[in-house]
Amino acid sequence: MSGQPPGILVVTGGSRGIGAAVVRLAAARGWAVAIGSHSRSPQADALAAEIRASGGQAVALAADVADSAAVDGLFAAAAQAFPDRRITGVVASAGLGGPTGLVADLGRPAALQELFAVNVLGVIHTARAAVRSMSTVHGGSGGGFVAVSSMAATIGGRPGKSVYAASKAAVDAFTVGLAKEVAAQGIRVNAVRPGVTRTDMTAGITGDPRRSAAVAATIPIGRFAEADEVAKPILWLLSEEASFVSGAVLDVSGGGFVLGAVASGPSLPATNTGPGAQISQPAPLRVAGSAH
Ligand SMILES: NC(=O)c1ccc[n+]([C@@H]2O[C@H](COP(=O)([O-])OP(=O)(O)OC[C@H]3O[C@@H](n4cnc5c(N)ncnc54)[C@H](OP(=O)(O)O)[C@@H]3O)[C@@H](O)[C@H]2O)c1
Repeated sequence: MSGQPPGILVVTGGSRGIGAAVVRLAAARGWAVAIGSHSRSPQADALAAEIRASGGQAVALAADVADSAAVDGLFAAAAQAFPDRRITGVVASAGLGGPTGLVADLGRPAALQELFAVNVLGVIHTARAAVRSMSTVHGGSGGGFVAVSSMAATIGGRPGKSVYAASKAAVDAFTVGLAKEVAAQGIRVNAVRPGVTRTDMTAGITGDPRRSAAVAATIPIGRFAEADEVAKPILWLLSEEASFVSGAVLDVSGGGFVLGAVASGPSLPATNTGPGAQISQPAPLRVAGSAH
């Protein structure tokens, strides 16, 4: 990653939410950005036009990340769009929340297959294309890859989201393994684990004041992230500032989760401090439908 000036940054899921925030920030820092979206998207087209109007370089490209050939096509089109630059950064942000509910009540298998095809295989297909584009072994000039995981992976998800959590845990493991595989090929591989972030994916929470307050109360910092608060650490991981960071999974979570009332030392009665003491147990969360 010599990165001067920045090369081409490919962002899957770049049309909306966290990906779109990455696109805006990267373009402002001089990257030529390929904005990936699932299908031809008015949001992606509008975002590319917005960046070009402000003097940046961007192109909107549709590709289903579940389809490895389509992802290869996305990378080829990105390289073709900016012939004077090379791909030196990739962010895999495309993702789905998937089904919500108890495992015993899970419905059609196709919904599970779609979730894993996008959240897990989509990241793997994107990483494969990234390595083929950036690896010094494949004629590339090195670069950075960042996958967007989720804090759900750390706690098995909030109630009703264990399947989503499992898909993100797979992303974490893949990140660590791939980082070792390509470290000597000039590629750093990292992931971020956002907590609840204000995007279309979480509109069901953020649009409902009661649920919004219940979920915010489980976040130590007391609020949700804005998408650009996740984008900034992603851009840092891609930058020279993080030149020795690889195989890291960075929590961007406002302090993680508060899973219930926690007894603090000074308020504990003296009789309640021994090894067998009953310190207050975490209350079960009841916020079905919240993925993160
Ligand atoms: N928001 C949160 O609270 C939160 C927290 C933790 C982790 N995350 C993760 O962060 C990532 C981005 O989430 P977000 O909240 O920004 O989501 P979002 O606003 O719903 O945007 C999803 C993006 O993914 C794209 N996408 C969906 N399916 C795709 C497919 N099959 N192929 C290609 N692109 C596809 C969408 O493209 P179209 O515009 O074409 O549909 C869109 O650009 C996801 O991986 C999510 O799991 C989100």
